Amino acid sequence: MKKLTTLGALTLFGLFIASCGDDASKGNQPANSNNIAASNYDTKLGQGKYKDVKLDEKLNESMADAGNKTFTAKCSACHKLTEEKLVGPGWKGVTSRHLPPWIMNFITNTDEMINKDPAAQAQLEICLVRMPNQSLSDDDARALLEFMRKNDGVK
Ligand code: HEC
Repeated sequence: MKKLTTLGALTLFGLFIASCGDDASKGNQPANSNNIAASNYDTKLGQGKYKDVKLDEKLNESMADAGNKTFTAKCSACHKLTEEKLVGPGWKGVTSRHLPPWIMNFITNTDEMINKDPAAQAQLEICLVRMPNQSLSDDDARALLEFMRKNDGVK
């Protein structure tokens, strides 16, 4: 009987985990509610040193290639390039879910963003794992953003 209950709990847990990807693919936009505005946190830009990230309309291929390498080394253990969740949300569509400065701030200032950002906290509740800081340089972060744009179809 005890075994059965444990199994049931594990199954429920599994279902809960599996729902993360679905949620991410629906575009979990930051809740732009007034009480958040009152706390002076910018849900669109996030928090960190990036306020404005200049992008060319056209993809920078060599930058995207560098981003792909960093993805393989530091991110692919937890993120897929599809909409499917692994440990964290799948990356497909991430550049339409978040503005470039939000993404750059999140990946370079991860702890503070998870503490303050409503969208990041919503993901944390679903994923149940806190994304660790990846110690990225500015160049790493910018290259990863370019790789995410490529993954989202920028040519
Ligand atoms: C140990 C697992 C893990 C690793 C490694 C990891 N992440 Fe994450 N990531 C997560 C989790 C979990 C979330 C959801 C937010 C949270 O709970 O922290 C997340 C969220 C994100 C988001 C927001 C996605 C969205 O749709 O809202 C981005 C962007 C991101 N990660 C980028 C990266 C990058 C770039 C790397 C590699 C340099 C990386 N992550 C490495 C676990 C990880």
